[in-house]
Amino acid sequence: MKEQLEEIRRRSLAELADDASEAAIEAVRIRTLGRAGELTEIMRGMRDVPQAERPMLGQLVNQIKREIEARIEELKSRNQQLALDRSLSEAALDVTLPGAKVPRGRIHPVTQILERMLAILVAMGFEVENTQDIEDDFHNFGALNFPPNHPAREMQDTFFVPGAMLLRTHTSNGQIRVMERRRPPLAVVCPGKCYRRDDLSVRASPMFTQIEGFMVDRRGRITMAHLKGLLAEFARAFFGPDTKVRFRASFFPFTEPSAELDIHCLLCAGAGCPVCKQSGWTEVLGCGMIHPNVLRAVKLDPDEYGGFAFGMGVERTGLMALGIDDMRLFFENDLRFLAQFSAISGGTR
Ligand code: PHE
Repeated sequence: MKEQLEEIRRRSLAELADDASEAAIEAVRIRTLGRAGELTEIMRGMRDVPQAERPMLGQLVNQIKREIEARIEELKSRNQQLALDRSLSEAALDVTLPGAKVPRGRIHPVTQILERMLAILVAMGFEVENTQDIEDDFHNFGALNFPPNHPAREMQDTFFVPGAMLLRTHTSNGQIRVMERRRPPLAVVCPGKCYRRDDLSVRASPMFTQIEGFMVDRRGRITMAHLKGLLAEFARAFFGPDTKVRFRASFFPFTEPSAELDIHCLLCAGAGCPVCKQSGWTEVLGCGMIHPNVLRAVKLDPDEYGGFAFGMGVERTGLMALGIDDMRLFFENDLRFLAQFSAISGGTR
């Protein structure tokens, strides 16, 4: 029996060598100390051992058990330490690796253009007021002197929404909304989105941005000459000092007289291209002296008050300023396009 025990001890400790694997260690543990292990079996068989030998053998079994357990403990903590060392050395930071790029958002080019335009107008003394996109017929059409059966009021031009409302077709509702609340003298610009039932194309979009501007004071103080001077100055500030402008007679129900301001097409330098419809000129805005009926609609007496208004398209003007020849690029959200306009500075391109 004693020899048998010595053999178990010798063999087990030999198997528990310094480089014993996790699995080998576990195998020794189960074979010797497990519930059906060799040492466990010997203890169980102790009653068949002559009385006199029992204490000696019992002690020996316990001692071998402790030795094996201690060796297993030692190997396990050693293995843990080795694993830790290994993982620390393998996971070491490589400080020369390039950092992970955090993509940065940018201001959309249309917003950048809008902000540049507003900055020029604010420097000229205009206040900025935002008005609503969802309007009623009165503020989008009626108060602006549109006759009841004007074609712009037709389904094919205007998006109607439930509740007798519509998506404003221009920012001219801003004139009405502001003048209902405030009395002259007023110099206000109203930027915002407008909506028309147009297909997205090189020059048009069903949603676009406009800036409405108007100036109203006592009758006679504000003339068409002021309007012309202000807008020519705006065009030079925005497009550059050498920009050629022309005023063309036009018609809007809410201004009389009415005009449109064209600038020399900056894309084709006057040669003709799709954006300027081959004319060499691009329309930038509509303008005119506010119609007496518009003043009446906001309860101002046209014999006492007068002024001008203008409305300009931001996207189309932006095409010119940025040298882009397709409006659709603004709305496709292709980051390769948008990323090119991270730093538009003031002045011209
Ligand atoms: N509302 C007109 C348009 O959308 C522009 C405009 C505004 C014209 C103010 C004259 C005065 O085309």
